[in-house]
Amino acid sequence: MIPINLPKIGEEEVEAVVKVLRSGIVTSALGAGPMVTTFEKNYAKFAGVKHAIAVNTGTAALHMAVVAAGVKAGDEVILPSFTFVATAEAVVMAGGKPVFTDIDPETYCLSPAAVEKAVTKKTKVILPVDLYGWPADIKPLREIAAKHNLAIVEDAAQAHGATRSGKPAGAFADMACWSLYASKNMTTGEGGVVTTDSDELAEKLHMLRTHGEKAKYSSEMLGYNYRMPEIEAAIGLVQLEKLPSFVASRRAHAKRLSEILSKNERLKRPVEPQGGLHSWYLYTVRLMNSDAKERNRILDEMKKKGIGAEAYYVNPVHLMPYYLNSFGARKLPETEKASEQVFSLPVHPRVTEEQVVDIGKTLLQLL
Ligand SMILES: Cc1ncc(COP(=O)(O)O)c(C=O)c1O
Repeated sequence: MIPINLPKIGEEEVEAVVKVLRSGIVTSALGAGPMVTTFEKNYAKFAGVKHAIAVNTGTAALHMAVVAAGVKAGDEVILPSFTFVATAEAVVMAGGKPVFTDIDPETYCLSPAAVEKAVTKKTKVILPVDLYGWPADIKPLREIAAKHNLAIVEDAAQAHGATRSGKPAGAFADMACWSLYASKNMTTGEGGVVTTDSDELAEKLHMLRTHGEKAKYSSEMLGYNYRMPEIEAAIGLVQLEKLPSFVASRRAHAKRLSEILSKNERLKRPVEPQGGLHSWYLYTVRLMNSDAKERNRILDEMKKKGIGAEAYYVNPVHLMPYYLNSFGARKLPETEKASEQVFSLPVHPRVTEEQVVDIGKTLLQLL
């Protein structure tokens, strides 16, 4: 089976981990050991901002950022429902109310027009997601945020290598949250990072990561233990160097697939954003005028032929039992329609060119 995503780990990562283990320094109670500190310096440079705060998951990154943005009980956060559930968890963990808002069917990201309508007096944060690696259209969201005095926390978990207006994804948000989970464009196994240009937010994030402390045993706020271990940072440093080649390989595979799939008119193919770059974390097509049954049948057939095609996300978060029961029903027509018609094909760097051709031709045949 060709899985939808697979980490690419080499001897360099193995050696980096062994070196850390031999050094005897595996973590730091103060928040960042030497490896984590170096990783943060390099990651901030990659993200085009002043600060990177490394943590142990992307979910932790999101939670800390939502808290640092000042979300408290009763505050509303505008976010898509068409995302991985962690985006919403972060809001609820902070005590906020998730206001699930519809997407633009062209980009699968938050629709700025829908966001404008969702703003109330209680809104504190807009939380766009760079879904599939498409950098969310931040300019109109920044305008809405400025008008209503809101912060933007960008979920860039899937966006390593994506750019918008000449800058890395996340660079125009107040804070951007990245995941380094095993499936992502670069990985540390589990891991996450918050990036920001703000000194003030960076100071808060450092405290939140380690028990609300600036100095040991002197918590100044409610904090957590979200620290990244040294071996993860060692892996991250190597993966960050390899990232451009990983993304180039994903881009080449995506281009080839799009050429092959152009022969089917019902299939809507993904494109690069205008004035920016997709990260190609997921190559997601849409079978127009289909329903979930037809889409799922194609996925089953692809799997029978050894191709791990998957649908992200079959269940939008607002329809999941916990969120439906806790926050009530909401009609999100574009989200619901897309969740029945989209599916993703493997383009990760461990897929070969021949396999890409086979994936494209197999799908064309099935259609
Ligand atoms: C859009 C999105 N947000 C948040 C997360 C959570 O990241 P993690 O799994 O590292 O906690 C992920 C990845 O799993 C994701 O894809």
